[in-house]
Amino acid sequence: MKNRITEILKTTYPLVQGPMRFITLGEMAAMVSKSGGFGQIAASSLPGDRLRLEIEKAKSITDRPVGVNIPVYRPNAEEALEIAIEMGIQTVTTSAGSPFKLIDKIKEAGMKVVHKVSSVRMALKAQDAGVDAVIATGYEAGGHIGQDETTTLCLIPQLVDALEIPVVAAGGVGDARGLIAAFALGAEGVEMGTRFVATHECPAAGYFKQALINAPENATVVLGKKMPLRVLRNQKTDKITDRTREVSSGKTEVEDVQEGDADSTIMSSGQIAAMIKDRKAVSEVFPEMMNDAVRITTRLHDLFAK
Ligand SMILES: Cc1cc2nc3c(=O)[nH]c(=O)nc-3n(C[C@H](O)[C@H](O)[C@H](O)COP(=O)(O)O)c2cc1C
Repeated sequence: MKNRITEILKTTYPLVQGPMRFITLGEMAAMVSKSGGFGQIAASSLPGDRLRLEIEKAKSITDRPVGVNIPVYRPNAEEALEIAIEMGIQTVTTSAGSPFKLIDKIKEAGMKVVHKVSSVRMALKAQDAGVDAVIATGYEAGGHIGQDETTTLCLIPQLVDALEIPVVAAGGVGDARGLIAAFALGAEGVEMGTRFVATHECPAAGYFKQALINAPENATVVLGKKMPLRVLRNQKTDKITDRTREVSSGKTEVEDVQEGDADSTIMSSGQIAAMIKDRKAVSEVFPEMMNDAVRITTRLHDLFAK
């Protein structure tokens, strides 16, 4: 498949692995890129030398493009960008802050940048700043979500109508059905986070993966007001009486996988957790979706076009 997103990302598929703090590092990002999608290293809170190491690791596994995600509000944002430039990363994604802060440096380096948004207002600003595309995060997504509570189904078509740059849909996509739905709304790509937690190679804690697989349809809850975070509901979240209080996700990071448990840890997750019933290999996720998408489009063609 070729479209504006595969051109920007230089990938086989217009499918993006969502960056996940302390979880998606060099190895996982490289495996996704090797399978045809766009793998991303989450730079959030990673010390500079660790980020360098993870980029090197990714490069030793694949020569396909791997991205680096830089949350703009984090103190390490500028340093992460400098390292990404120095190490020859071709595309970065920015999130949680204004792309204006980093765009000059990104463009001077000749890189592409895709910015994460959750509203038409934010997306128009990002387009004005000069980003190449946006990733639109709907309210059902895992991790940080928009204050406006707009769902993927409502957000994508509004963005597609308002913008000239292409839109990648994030939030609520777990398989080919979500992929086709997003494309029907006008998206030119899809980003998935939660689905990738429940993969064999994902370095998240085993209890986190199992909690996702066990999750019923009402498994998630949103905590925080200024920077809302969608997480799995558990004993820890049930004890939080003020759900407007800001929280950050817990110790699910690689080095601390043995710490904590499914009752006492804050685990970011999207509503799509309820549809995830098995662990897959990272390399299977995107190719399988693309195959299934062909079957769905044939069925839809038979239904609508005959
Ligand atoms: C555990 C977890 C951690 C995340 N960490 C980040 C992050 O560091 N930076 C970021 O831009 N998005 C982060 N996200 C959001 C994902 O990149 C992705 O946009 C989102 O998961 C898509 O929605 P889905 O969960 O329905 O697939 C995180 C999501 C999860 C589930």
